[in-house]
Amino acid sequence: MTVDKYAVLVIDDEEPIRRLLQKELANPLRTIATAATAAEAMALTRTKRFDVVILDLWLPDVTNLDLLIRLRESIPHIEVVMITGHGDIDMAVEAMKLGACDFIRKPFNLDRLDLVVEKAHQRARLSRENAVLRHSADQKQNKSHFIGNSQDIREIRFLIEKVAPAKIPVLITGESGTGKDVVARMVHHLSPLAANQMIVKNCATLQNELARGELFGHVKGAFTGADESREGLLSFAHDSSLFFDEIGELPLEIQAALLRALETGCYRRVGEKEERRVNIRFLFATNRVLREEVEKGRFNEAFFHRINAFTIKIPPLRQRKEDLPLLVDYFLTSLSADGAKFRITDRAMERILGYDWPGNIRELRNVLERAIILAENATITETCLPVNMADAANHGANGDNLTLEGIERRHILKLLRFHDGNRQKTAESLGISRKTLYRKLVQYELDKS
Ligand SMILES: Nc1ncnc2c1ncn2[C@@H]1O[C@H](COP(=O)(O)OP(=O)(O)OP(=O)(O)O)[C@@H](O)[C@H]1O
Ligand SMILES: [Mg+2]
Repeated sequence: MTVDKYAVLVIDDEEPIRRLLQKELANPLRTIATAATAAEAMALTRTKRFDVVILDLWLPDVTNLDLLIRLRESIPHIEVVMITGHGDIDMAVEAMKLGACDFIRKPFNLDRLDLVVEKAHQRARLSRENAVLRHSADQKQNKSHFIGNSQDIREIRFLIEKVAPAKIPVLITGESGTGKDVVARMVHHLSPLAANQMIVKNCATLQNELARGELFGHVKGAFTGADESREGLLSFAHDSSLFFDEIGELPLEIQAALLRALETGCYRRVGEKEERRVNIRFLFATNRVLREEVEKGRFNEAFFHRINAFTIKIPPLRQRKEDLPLLVDYFLTSLSADGAKFRITDRAMERILGYDWPGNIRELRNVLERAIILAENATITETCLPVNMADAANHGANGDNLTLEGIERRHILKLLRFHDGNRQKTAESLGISRKTLYRKLVQYELDKS
């Protein structure tokens, strides 16, 4: 097991105190840095992440508690322990009100000092973990199985293994349900950053006005509503991977800033002049054709070229049907609740092979999940499969004799059924906005069903 060290910053203008604390606090679980002035401390916090600060109440280049306020505002998950002397009680109380978590008196009781620092670290860790958890990938999915033995899948596996150790950004493309998430997780897990949580952001959930703050963080008062300073996703993803799903939805206005972060590792919080530096592996996924988005002026061209440098393209399931038997086998085992072994009849398998799978592997998974429930004697027969699969197989599944609009209508209908009529999910699968979907539903008279 690897234990993460945490970082302590001692800020005191007296050299002997800095030296004493550096020596006494040293232990294998912490790193200790020191600063003599507020300016030095602020500079340090911009390049390195600290968990706990030990701060002298009196410093030459700031008045009283200004530095405490600044630290708390610019590093949200930090805990500050104050060093106080005789007769500083009022000030110590004031400091606690301003967010200091504890204080220690000079001369130091070294045992208590150690305890206080450890407690402060626990608090910092908890608040940070809570914040990271809100953004990070679903733990359960961390162990990814990437099933398939088609030429395409073997090539993808090869590419993943090659690119994972490198630091370059990876763009993963493919229709909805083809396994873009699975591939992103594999890249992360085979990378040197695997010990840390991958952070995931679906760009479709970014609201235009708030997007910049959410990605880069902001300082208090940077804009209306910014009551508190906040760390951005880039900061949470430090020393890990940051996976932007549906990158085609990233607001155009922030693409340039993100491009800069990709190229230099530097970014700025909203409302802050100084740059911050991070070490991040960037991963992107989309089911859109970004090149077309660029041509339409909806996607930044330079950003596109940068993220398109290494692309993993996952073909739709209908183009690699030879993977179906393996996938079916895998899902029948992994989805069965009590590990029971399910059998599938030849006719049911034929139907699976004859179907187009517009929802790709996700659809296959859902169909089999349902089939397992319907199965008798642990045997999947045709009757356990949805009827619309037969429709599609019998009536020109490829839509050969349909107009483009006819195909679109059929595809929308399929996905709607697949998502049990959930329009948000259907729109997401189609890579269009809900508004566009509503328009199409009305156009094709699907809005009433
Ligand atoms: N090769 C594979 N082997 C096993 N399971 C897979 C494979 N590819 C995808 N899956 C499973 O299929 C489902 C859909 O995959 P995933 O979420 O990665 O698709 P996606 O391309 O990200 O879709 P979307 O565009 O809708 O986000 C998941 O349950 C995933 O575990
Ligand atoms: Mg996905």
